[in-house]
Amino acid sequence: MVSKVFIKLGGSFITDKAVPETLNGERITAAARMIRAAIEAAAAQGDALSIILGHGAGSFGHIAALKFSAVQGVHPEFGWQGLYAIREAMTRMNLLVLQRCKEGGLYPVTVSPFAVTQAKGGKVLRLDAENIQQLLLSEQIPLVHGDAVPDTERGFTIASTEALLAALGDRFRFDRVVMVSDTPGVLDQNGRTIPLIDRRNLDQMAACLGASGAPDVTGGMRKKVENLLALIRRGAANEARILTFSDRPEDLRDAVLGAGEAGTLLRL
Ligand SMILES: Nc1ncnc2c1ncn2[C@@H]1O[C@H](COP(=O)(O)OP(=O)(O)OP(=O)(O)O)[C@@H](O)[C@H]1O
Ligand SMILES: [Mg+2]
Repeated sequence: MVSKVFIKLGGSFITDKAVPETLNGERITAAARMIRAAIEAAAAQGDALSIILGHGAGSFGHIAALKFSAVQGVHPEFGWQGLYAIREAMTRMNLLVLQRCKEGGLYPVTVSPFAVTQAKGGKVLRLDAENIQQLLLSEQIPLVHGDAVPDTERGFTIASTEALLAALGDRFRFDRVVMVSDTPGVLDQNGRTIPLIDRRNLDQMAACLGASGAPDVTGGMRKKVENLLALIRRGAANEARILTFSDRPEDLRDAVLGAGEAGTLLRL
C-alpha cells in the first residue's frame, strides 16, 4: 500500500520566530531522521510512503514581509522590495533546511513555489504540480516552502505552506497531513492539548484558536486549523495531526506512519 503524506516543518518549530533568522538546525536534522525512520518502517512492512515535505517561513519570511509591509503585495512606498526580501530570505532558509535534512539522511528536492504558483487577489489559484508529480513517481521527496508568489492583481502575494498544501491536496489527495509546530498540539484555554478536533467539538474549539504569538503574516494556529479542516471537508486530505517533538522524536515517525496519539488529530 502507498500512503500519500504531506509533512510541514513549521516555522515556529524550526526557527525562533521572535528573533530574525534564527534557524534551529538540530530540530530539522532530528525531524529528518524520524521521517527517514518512518519511510524505513513502512518499507519493512511492504508499504510505501509518498511524501511531500514543506517548511514554514518562521523568522525568515515573516520578518522580511513585515519589514516591507508586503502583505498586500506591491507597496506604495516600498514597491517590490518585499518580494526581493522574502524570496531572498526564503531561498537562503531553504538551503539551510536542505543541508540539515541531509545530515538527517533525508534528501528532499526543492520545487520553488514562486516558479510554479499563480495567485490573484492574495489567493492561490493554481500550482503547477507536474515536477512534483515527476519526483513522486521516482520515489523522491519534493520540498515546498512558504513563499512570495506572482499575483495578477497585487504583483505578488504571500503564500503560506498551508495555502500551497491546499492546492496540492486538490491534486494529490493526501491520506494524512502532519504539521510540526512549537506547541504540543492545539491548546485549549487552560493550555492543555486538545486530542481531537472534529465536527462535534469544532465550535467549542474555535474559541481557543488564535494568531501567532510572534511576528507573523499568515494567521498562526487559527488559520492553520481552518485551512486543514477545509482541506479535510473537501476530501483533499483524510486527516491531519498537529504536534511537536521535544523529548519524544518518535512521535513524529509514528504520526507520519498514521499511528501514535501525540498532539491534536483533526478529522471530519
Ligand atoms: N490554541 C492554540 N494552540 C496552539 N497555538 C496557538 C493557539 N492559538 C494561537 N497559537 C499560536 O500559534 C502559533 C503557531 O502558529 P505559527 O503560524 O506561528 O506556526 P507555524 O505555522 O509553525 O510557523 P510558520 O507560519 O512560520 O510556518 C503558536 O506558536 C501560538 O503562538
Ligand atoms: Mg504559520
